[in-house]
Amino acid sequence: MSLQEKFNALEEMRMKSQAGGGPERVKKQHDSGKLTARERINILLDKGSFEEIGAFVQHRSKDFGLDKQQFPGDGVVTGFGKIDGRPVYVYSQDFTVLGGSLSETHAEKICKIMDLAVKNGIPVIGLNDSGGARIQEGVVSLGGYAEVFWRNSMASGVIPQLSAVMGPCAGGAVYSPAITDFIFMVQDTSFMFVTGPNVVKTVTHEEVSSEDLGGASAHSTKSGVCHFTSDNDAECLMQLRRLYSYLPLNCEEKPPSASPAEPETSKAEALDSLVPDNANKPYDIKDVIEGIVDANSFMEVHEQYAENIVVGFARLDGRSVGIVANQPLSLAGCLDINASIKGARFVRFCDAFNIPLVVFEDVPGFLPGTDQEWGGIIKHGAKLLYAFCEATVPKVTIITRKAYGGAYDVMNSKHIRADYNVAWPTAEIAVMGTKGAVEIIFRKEIAQADDPAAKQAELEASYEEAFANPYRAAAHGYVDEVIYPHETRKKLIRVMEVIQHKVDTVPRKKHDNLPL
Ligand code: HXC
Repeated sequence: MSLQEKFNALEEMRMKSQAGGGPERVKKQHDSGKLTARERINILLDKGSFEEIGAFVQHRSKDFGLDKQQFPGDGVVTGFGKIDGRPVYVYSQDFTVLGGSLSETHAEKICKIMDLAVKNGIPVIGLNDSGGARIQEGVVSLGGYAEVFWRNSMASGVIPQLSAVMGPCAGGAVYSPAITDFIFMVQDTSFMFVTGPNVVKTVTHEEVSSEDLGGASAHSTKSGVCHFTSDNDAECLMQLRRLYSYLPLNCEEKPPSASPAEPETSKAEALDSLVPDNANKPYDIKDVIEGIVDANSFMEVHEQYAENIVVGFARLDGRSVGIVANQPLSLAGCLDINASIKGARFVRFCDAFNIPLVVFEDVPGFLPGTDQEWGGIIKHGAKLLYAFCEATVPKVTIITRKAYGGAYDVMNSKHIRADYNVAWPTAEIAVMGTKGAVEIIFRKEIAQADDPAAKQAELEASYEEAFANPYRAAAHGYVDEVIYPHETRKKLIRVMEVIQHKVDTVPRKKHDNLPL
């Protein structure tokens, strides 16, 4: 073979690998509203930065005629590239090749990428679009999945792992994304479930569509499995790029900085009048966040799930921070089971990856009721408490209004080692709200009074004067300062500058026993 013939052979192999399952299947993929594995990589990564690994890998199976169906690359495109100039490993399943199904070799390719990512301290992004285990390969394919799951678990907390589900993801296959840090889904084209609609119908007699059972809406609003949704593939990939910009490459690094940007003037100026005079009136905590952090820097996580707590990434003077905030617009900002789990998972991610925490607190307490108690609010609420307790990143808290009861302790209080705690003059820090407190401690006095209603009002006024303010807590040093809302940004930036290199540790242990 001449040199030219050898070069031609290589070119032919490359073209074959890049063709995936062929033009017909690519057309079907496009017709169903999806991009191909390679088109997705091209949008996700900086132009021209992708370097492929394993383009010529072929499966080894001979059963059920598979020996006659060879597609170089075996249904997954793997390699590395850059996002905004920063390195990333990526795998992208190719649904046009045997439905993106996972064979032994397909799994080996993903595992190779994951091993390299951990060794080099670089995050992994997985673009999932697969019919699951390659049925013709049987247990070998199941073993391949387990190899991936094991690596996901070992890499957890070492490098960020992001999963986009951009097609079907069924059976045990959902557990790889589930172990990773964030899941992205696309409306109408992606779904995740342990068993599909047919099995559901057989077992429970429920009739449900794939979309209703495990589509992006179901998982972003009902189950909380999905953190980000988008209308199409391109939008999903741009969201992944955006999230990447807040994250460090690994647990030994600090997150990257961006150019600082003052918040919009109108939003900053509105801060002083945001909290209503009437403590029972709600306001939008996102207006508080946006009046303080860098303009357009707030990227909300889990936007449609457990809306009574708001979590997300933002920047303060260009530095990445994780925001956790009670939302008075939903359930009056009470902590319930879902909010506790959502908050805890986010706090633990930020702590694992050196992202300082900024907490905005307006919480009347934990949500009462049999649903909550029988659902385990005790153990789930403990997750959030535990997460804040164990977090060693810089931690600051701004009490905007209510900080009542156990929720005061939980929401990053001074006592669980927050570094800087401030309150606005509108803060009310007490064991419970005025009405409830007066009814309990003065029940006899009120009942015996000539005019019980007048007595109650008088006692409420004196309780309010004593407790519905931040000054008792300030007198004890539990809040470091009482500040005007408009001072918050400036003070946070200054304090973050001095606590950014904080060194704190937890006692030596094999691992913790987070209440699950
Ligand atoms: C091998 C598969 C496959 C699979 C799809 N294909 N799934 N090949 N193994 N698991 C192939 C099809 O034969 C077809 O090949 C091509 O992919 C496209 O599939 P279609 O059915 O034509 O596509 P569509 O109508 O879009 O339906 C997609 C689908 C469906 C919903 C994913 O294919 C399906 O239900 N597949 C089986 C899903 C499943 O039950 N998987 C096992 C889950 S359990 P041609 O040659 O025609 O293009 C599991 C265990 C994991 O994964 C365990 C981990 C612990």
